[in-house]
Amino acid sequence: MPVELRDQRILLTGPTSQVGLPIARALAPHNEVHGVARFRDPATRAPLEAIGVECIALDLAEGSFAALSEQYDYVLNFAVVKSGDFAYDLCANAEGAGRLLAHCRDAKGFLHCSSAAVYAEDGPKPFREDAPLGDNHRMLFPTYSISKIAAETTVRFAAREFGVPTSIARFSVPYGENGGWPWFHLMMMKAGSPIAVSPDAPNLYNPIFEDDYIAHLPRLFEVATPETTTLNWGGSEAVAIEEWCAWLGELTGLEPQFETREGVLAPLPICTEKMDRLIGPTRVDWRSGIRRLVKARNPELLKPEYA
Ligand SMILES: NC(=O)c1ccc[n+]([C@@H]2O[C@H](COP(=O)([O-])OP(=O)(O)OC[C@H]3O[C@@H](n4cnc5c(N)ncnc54)[C@H](OP(=O)(O)O)[C@@H]3O)[C@@H](O)[C@H]2O)c1
Repeated sequence: MPVELRDQRILLTGPTSQVGLPIARALAPHNEVHGVARFRDPATRAPLEAIGVECIALDLAEGSFAALSEQYDYVLNFAVVKSGDFAYDLCANAEGAGRLLAHCRDAKGFLHCSSAAVYAEDGPKPFREDAPLGDNHRMLFPTYSISKIAAETTVRFAAREFGVPTSIARFSVPYGENGGWPWFHLMMMKAGSPIAVSPDAPNLYNPIFEDDYIAHLPRLFEVATPETTTLNWGGSEAVAIEEWCAWLGELTGLEPQFETREGVLAPLPICTEKMDRLIGPTRVDWRSGIRRLVKARNPELLKPEYA
């Protein structure tokens, strides 16, 4: 069924996040949007309230859902916590996602944001959706991969149990005017800090610009099923860290310093064949996306010819 995200009642968890804030900005002008987070930093409420998002403070690990309405048309679960405490993170990321779906069982669609961090590091590349799962991000965020895998399972269980059309989308590298991994690399280049890369070069990922992931949202609800549709979610073109840092260097004149060593994240390119087929390929060329990131966040760093 074609989905139009207009005049809908929408629940967005993680609205203050790097990824969630651009989504809130895109949806709020046309929908009634409620945003759930702990709002541990009270200052994160104001930008949301300014665009008409109703902020609801709730800890998905520990809070009661009683005060949360059950009546939403669409639910987008983008909250995530990486505290390093397994009990808390599993409770928030996995049980919280399942409880949220159970609570909103009358919704027309549920979108759970997952991550390519669910794939086993030594799996075949690029990773297809049926690749073996594993504790990919352990060296960076100890609880992350395990709780993202657990979250997918609780979401699938609840979707089937309550008959809620659901999609699980495994993000590669979301980025845009609200930041993302390439921006952290830019900040490291500015500080003269080395950027650690795996010897398994090129260090390929599938960066996806915020215009593209926002454009995909209606399609992700369109392909949702109670049996759950699981798909990779990234740029249709794989790009290496080395390439995007070189482009950041070209845009700014800053020189990336790479430190090649074992024990850092291995390349994690995803197969986008299923994504391209079900919800369409991405449109934003990565070079123009990264130029827009720099222009939005650090215009002072852009060479005049790229401004
Ligand atoms: N950023 C990436 O490069 C990337 C890559 C792959 C996948 N993803 C996925 O994309 C989604 C968004 O990630 P992000 O990096 O944009 O997130 P983020 O910037 O780390 O923000 C996390 C969000 O979750 C909220 N939150 C954390 N703990 C919570 C809890 N216990 N209860 C309720 N809300 C809680 C936070 O607000 P409070 O702290 O105020 O509660 C914040 O709004 C996640 O599903 C993540 O796994 C991101």
